[in-house]
Amino acid sequence: MNFQQIPQDGIRAASTPPPQLSGILRRIATLGDMLDRAVGEQDHPLRIQIDEIHGPVHATISGRKTTLFGTNSYLGLNFDPRCIAAAHEALDKWGTGSTASRVASGNQQGHVALEKTIADFYGRPDAIVYSTGFMANLGSIGGLASDGDLILYDAYCHASIIDACRASGATFKPFKHNDTADLERALTEATVPASRILVVLEGLYSVWGDIGDVIGLATVAKNHGALVLVDEAHGMGMYGANGRGVTEVQGAEHLVDAIVGTFSKSVGVIGGFCVTFHPALRSLRYLSRAYLYTASLPPAVVASARTAIEIIGSEPDLRADLWRKAERFCTSVEAMGYVLRATPGPVGAIRMRGLIQGLEFWRDLLASGIYVNLLIPPATPNGEVLLRFSVSAAHTDADIDQFLAILREFAPRAISA
Ligand SMILES: Cc1ncc(COP(=O)(O)O)c(C=O)c1O
Repeated sequence: MNFQQIPQDGIRAASTPPPQLSGILRRIATLGDMLDRAVGEQDHPLRIQIDEIHGPVHATISGRKTTLFGTNSYLGLNFDPRCIAAAHEALDKWGTGSTASRVASGNQQGHVALEKTIADFYGRPDAIVYSTGFMANLGSIGGLASDGDLILYDAYCHASIIDACRASGATFKPFKHNDTADLERALTEATVPASRILVVLEGLYSVWGDIGDVIGLATVAKNHGALVLVDEAHGMGMYGANGRGVTEVQGAEHLVDAIVGTFSKSVGVIGGFCVTFHPALRSLRYLSRAYLYTASLPPAVVASARTAIEIIGSEPDLRADLWRKAERFCTSVEAMGYVLRATPGPVGAIRMRGLIQGLEFWRDLLASGIYVNLLIPPATPNGEVLLRFSVSAAHTDADIDQFLAILREFAPRAISA
């Protein structure tokens, strides 16, 4: 492998859009064209196809047996026999789909039971289930805030939060990532009453794998009287004695008005939710367009999500196993000289020198039977190119050793210069 093989200016030349295009087509051609030419058709980072799946973290990709270090199945529950059995049973009894929105004929006994399971899991009176985590943000933030309100959000928040802010009709402004002083400034400068301000942040930021200062930021927000919403998409299942996320582990649950989450990470299926202790937020069911105007989750997904959440709440050993593996992996990676972008944990990222090195490294890992995520701008902070990895409780010690051995072999070329 030679990271310098593809000349940098080759990328720049390839990024020039074909001259016959104009307007919208010319604009959108640029990035795809650049990546396609740089990487070629084979093993394209944004078009990887899994040909066969052999469990939560093993697959066949391009004819190769591959260990997945780029999934969000942090606890391996997408292949847990209890979750699969629950899905089978619901499929047989309820069919393949609900075929309607919750407010039409798509509100089945399973959806209501799932909401009770989530509310109990978080120790809150009420929960609302959405069809994805993206829609949970669209629906909750878009339902809560509107014209005349102000949303202050952490600058590194997920795209679904930004899109939710856009769709809400409220004014929205970022504050510096994890910066309590900047949030304080933004709240002090606000020209609307604090009761009309919603502060949005995340528990675990999934690009670098760094955790949010939920306790610090929520304290600042509450001192001003603002509402606080935390997206625990990645933290759920991974952090906290009960698996409720970073908000739980930092002792900040009493400061947080609403928690948004997803079933597509630790829970192992698809779907999203918002949980709250405010009775007033029951109205979200009538205000969230992403709840009202889309079909509800299929019964098998609902049943499997319920079972997974019960497992997350009742089996802390699974979480302990995940952390044992993640800490061993990260300690070894750092000892080799790689620099992780955040405090070691189950999600981490190694910064690459640029697109060329990132593509080469990612492709060489894949050729060696390891899949990680290649993250490039605009999905990354500061225009960084990152190799993002995630450790799962489903990884065996042998899987981790395999990845470590490859990283050790690549280290001299990857870290030097
Ligand atoms: C912080 C955060 N929120 C929301 C989502 C969207 O979740 P889903 O994939 O369930 O739509 C993601 C997905 O990666 C995420 O990272």
